[in-house]
Amino acid sequence: MALDRKPAPNDLNAFWMPFTSNRQFKQSPRMFVAAKDMHYTTSDGRQVLDGTAGLWCCNAGHCRPKITEAIQKQAAELDYAPAFQMGHPIAFELANRIIDIAPKGMEHVFYTNSGSESVETALKIAIAYHRARGEGTRTRLIGRERGYHGVNFGGISVGGIVNNRKFFGTLLAGVDHLPHTHIPQNAFAKGQPEHGANLADDLERIVALHGAETIAAVIVEPMAGSTGVLLPPKGYLEKLRAITKKHGILLIFDEVITGFGRLGSAFAAQHFDVLPDMMTTAKGLTNGVIPMGAVITTGEVHDAFMTGPDHMIELFHGYTYSGNPIAAAAGVATLETYKEEGLFERANDLAPYWEQALHSLKGTRNVIDIRNMGLIGAVELEPIAGQPTKRAFSAFLKAYEKGILIRTTGDIIAMSPPLIISKAEIDRLIGTLKEVLDTLE
Ligand SMILES: Cc1ncc(COP(=O)(O)O)c(C=O)c1O
Repeated sequence: MALDRKPAPNDLNAFWMPFTSNRQFKQSPRMFVAAKDMHYTTSDGRQVLDGTAGLWCCNAGHCRPKITEAIQKQAAELDYAPAFQMGHPIAFELANRIIDIAPKGMEHVFYTNSGSESVETALKIAIAYHRARGEGTRTRLIGRERGYHGVNFGGISVGGIVNNRKFFGTLLAGVDHLPHTHIPQNAFAKGQPEHGANLADDLERIVALHGAETIAAVIVEPMAGSTGVLLPPKGYLEKLRAITKKHGILLIFDEVITGFGRLGSAFAAQHFDVLPDMMTTAKGLTNGVIPMGAVITTGEVHDAFMTGPDHMIELFHGYTYSGNPIAAAAGVATLETYKEEGLFERANDLAPYWEQALHSLKGTRNVIDIRNMGLIGAVELEPIAGQPTKRAFSAFLKAYEKGILIRTTGDIIAMSPPLIISKAEIDRLIGTLKEVLDTLE
């Protein structure tokens, strides 16, 4: 029977929140009402230090004037223009600026609205690329255990986080998974771990099983973020590149988190000096302010489609909001902010300090591993027996009470502060986290 009641404007019931324990949240809500630079303001007037750049996306910090003004100006000038068979200048300008900072060899940009859509787009381009070149049997896709590639069907199929997959049916057919790279020998490694490059050799097994001529692409996060910050062992990405190349398989780096400075370079591909065939991005592209994503491809991938009569559409794919003018304006202003303030270099310079601060937590109660790279880090906790995720979630709640925002996945605490963080703020973030961990069950 329908309820005979209209929700009050501030009723929390109607909004079904994403990736949230809705019932717990609605019993004791945590609301942000404003943000500036490194801090959020809560509805009860407290300042919370942002240890996660929102959701790994506000790399330049919050409410940066240049980005705000660019959005306001663009909204008043050209609010929307179709991107199918029509153009508007700022989308082209942003694409050129992205290519400017992308690794050499990356030449084209296809716009989406999110990381998930970037992943779907890249997977589709990969399959269509092979078909365009007369290799239409190459349809299989290979992801990796514990990988996170967003929440759409392609992404959860190649992804490897069990709870993101197991409730949603049969997923895409023709998908295999490489093993993840988290191995005990690397516990408490600082930066890139020594052991495990050989895990990439599993790709040869999959190729032998199916035949290279059936495989379109391998997609991996160069550094796996959402699953709890798993780093690629030294030599691992190089091996993946060599094996994919040898077998004519495209390599896609999902740089939705690692893109735009997180590791101290514009992209992880530059940090690791490994060139994939495509990169998926979103988040930091607009500083998280407006939804936008982009797939960046080599000239070779793009050019394979540029055949047939000129009036024909080359790729039957795109979104109503691909290259939306306001998002593109936010993107241009964001990239300018990164450049003017030298934020990628800043992340690189701060990385050793961050590493030291993070690893000072070694020996703290229940801490069983610490991982770091660039301005990203994870502290893994021993789960409470029979109650996985509970200890880390308690840490998250206590941390919020004490004025720091952290993120948890399973029993792992992940942090990825805006690249404008100061050393004093790093000390506060890590110091407060230690206090929280010391008081936990
Ligand atoms: C590597 C990676 N790919 C894809 C996504 C999905 O992005 P979105 O939430 O914008 O769809 C994420 C989000 O965290 C991500 O980390």
